[in-house]
Amino acid sequence: MQAVTWQGKRRMSVESVPDPELQRATDAIIEVTSTAICGSDLHLYEVLGPFMDKGDVVGHEAMGRVVEAGADSGLAVGDRVVVPFTISCGSCWMCERGLYSQCETTQVREHGSGASLFGYSRLYGSVPGGQAEYLRVPHADFGPIRVGDELPDERYLFLSDVLPTAWQAVRYADVAPGESLAVFGLGPVGQMAARIAHFLGATVYAIDPVRERRTMAARHGIQTFDLDDDAIDSIRDATGGRGPDAVVDAVGMEAHGSPVGKFVHQAAGLLPDAVARPMMEHAGLDRLAALHSSIDLVRRGGTVSLSGVYGGMASPMPLLTLFDKQIQIRQGQCNVKAWIDDLLPLVEDPADPLGVDDLVTHRLPLAGAPEAYEMFQQKDDGCIKVVLDPRI
Ligand SMILES: NC(=O)c1ccc[n+]([C@@H]2O[C@H](COP(=O)([O-])OP(=O)(O)OC[C@H]3O[C@@H](n4cnc5c(N)ncnc54)[C@H](O)[C@@H]3O)[C@@H](O)[C@H]2O)c1
Ligand SMILES: [Zn+2]
Ligand SMILES: [Zn+2]
Repeated sequence: MQAVTWQGKRRMSVESVPDPELQRATDAIIEVTSTAICGSDLHLYEVLGPFMDKGDVVGHEAMGRVVEAGADSGLAVGDRVVVPFTISCGSCWMCERGLYSQCETTQVREHGSGASLFGYSRLYGSVPGGQAEYLRVPHADFGPIRVGDELPDERYLFLSDVLPTAWQAVRYADVAPGESLAVFGLGPVGQMAARIAHFLGATVYAIDPVRERRTMAARHGIQTFDLDDDAIDSIRDATGGRGPDAVVDAVGMEAHGSPVGKFVHQAAGLLPDAVARPMMEHAGLDRLAALHSSIDLVRRGGTVSLSGVYGGMASPMPLLTLFDKQIQIRQGQCNVKAWIDDLLPLVEDPADPLGVDDLVTHRLPLAGAPEAYEMFQQKDDGCIKVVLDPRI
């Protein structure tokens, strides 16, 4: 079959690889009908590169039809399913508590990591991913979400990651109707987090440097700000001078523009020079721009909810500010299946209350993946979300 493979720093290519086969009775094989490129895939370009092997099949947002069903998979050939990006058993101690992304059956203990993920490096189990014609789904007796035939793939596809990730971010932010939430980053995750919070009755402010991403969010009732504006001051002014009740960071370590600003320099300035300088130089402080801005903006006693992914052991955090402002931080890989009962009725609602129909900007054949990665990373051609269709 054809599959998108990692070949090196910023190099993805479409290659012929062996078709996947059933390995266990709980496995299923699906023919992929839609598979998306995610902001998390961009981390494989550089930061997670050292944990990738040449030829690894990437991709973790996929849906399709079951073409082979293991005897204990609970699925039947022909079932239409969405595949969560986290691989969980559904019955271990963690899964019983809804912490599916910490599944003790699929944890990658060798690297001290949580549940295995599709297409996401040795750190997460080197499981072949879903940007391919076919995908082997382990633990198919628990993971896949069976869906009906009436609605197009785009309505369901984002149940694999973007929607539950955004839903978890908003739930962790814990804003009640009438309260305020700021969202950093209007990529697919930030778009959906902003819209979900708006749908649940919060007042939502969002910041992103890319104009068409702000325009898209504005179509869904979000007040948007350019990163270059005095966004922080404007949002603080709009929230009684205190700052919003919670902030979702939907940027992560690909932060760019990176006007780290006075606040971060102040934070670093609180460290002894000899410690601060190497940190500034080596720990990629610029990559923490959105996180530091979130901590700066949130009101005292508020919550910062991180869905953006950060890496590195030496990331300096302004602990004094976190303590003094009494900030709670909640984060983690999404526990996908925990949120599907909330989300499925919304994506199937003919009125499309979360605006799922307004997210995909590009639908391309699998062969277009290398250019699509480039376009998504560079944000060229108005690219916000790419769906690859292996059948065109
Ligand atoms: N927790 C999870 O389970 C989970 C799941 C999916 C994605 N993620 C993470 O969520 C993050 C976002 O994913 P995405 O697909 O939306 O990616 P994306 O790269 O499309 O979105 C990031 C957005 O942030 C904007 N941005 C960059 N620097 C900024 C700054 N300093 N301030 C404000 N905005 C800034 C960019 O313009 C872009 O629109 C990534 O880090 C991804 O790895 C986490
Ligand atoms: Zn993803
Ligand atoms: Zn489990």
